[in-house]
Amino acid sequence: MNKKIKKIINKKNKSKIVSLTAYSKNIAQILDKFCDIVLVGDSMANVLYGMQSTHEITLNNIVQHTLSVKKGLKKSLLVVDMPKGTYRNKKIAKKNAKYILNLTKCDAVKLESNNKNFSIIKELVKSKIPVMGHIGYTPQFKKRFKIEGDTKAKAIKLLKEAKNIEKAGAFSIVLECITPQTSKIITENLKIPTIGIGSSNYCDGQILVTDDMLGISGFYPKFVKKYLSLDRIIEKAVKKYTTDVKFKKFPSNKNFLNGSKYR
Ligand code: KIV
Repeated sequence: MNKKIKKIINKKNKSKIVSLTAYSKNIAQILDKFCDIVLVGDSMANVLYGMQSTHEITLNNIVQHTLSVKKGLKKSLLVVDMPKGTYRNKKIAKKNAKYILNLTKCDAVKLESNNKNFSIIKELVKSKIPVMGHIGYTPQFKKRFKIEGDTKAKAIKLLKEAKNIEKAGAFSIVLECITPQTSKIITENLKIPTIGIGSSNYCDGQILVTDDMLGISGFYPKFVKKYLSLDRIIEKAVKKYTTDVKFKKFPSNKNFLNGSKYR
């Protein structure tokens, strides 16, 4: 097993797993100083491309952004979302997961669960492809957002789903928008770590979409903690640049190139 993956599994019940999403090298190299896991999420569809749904993102979009993110990472585990439709059966899943892994040299792929595709996870794991599962609100398979696991019957169903994913060989599992009580039960009943998003701090780790927590996505549901209003900081800088250009303050003598010096 990949050493980095072993390290993630070993964190369970010891220390929290820190994860964030990245779509580019510049962000990835900052995250790498702090994160255990960096995810190239299909959330890039909405967050980066302004698409209506994650269903629109392609395998090559994902590969392209992963190549960029990989360049910014030295130590974090790099996990890549498999887009909708790219793992609809074992054969297609294996071909596409290998395509992602071979081209990007990422560490693992993430598959959303539809409560049926356990044998696909098993097949990938059998082929030495590390898999992260994803249950609860799974935008690739659910039309409408809703809180998951909010009744006893739904909690039991989710726990069973999580157990099946673990049995299939996944090394960890994202719990998205699952009630605290159900997240707790799932986390306590799995050997592999759970990574929560909107699923309480009972999970073994947390993940957020970086653009949301930095305040540049414009999407701030209750489960997102906005650590910064980066949009305002960027606005301020661009406004200053605009004034400088208009009033001929930029470029100044300091920015003129003379001789052979570029920097
Ligand atoms: O695509 C993504 O960013 C994700 C996170 C919500 C975990 O899957």
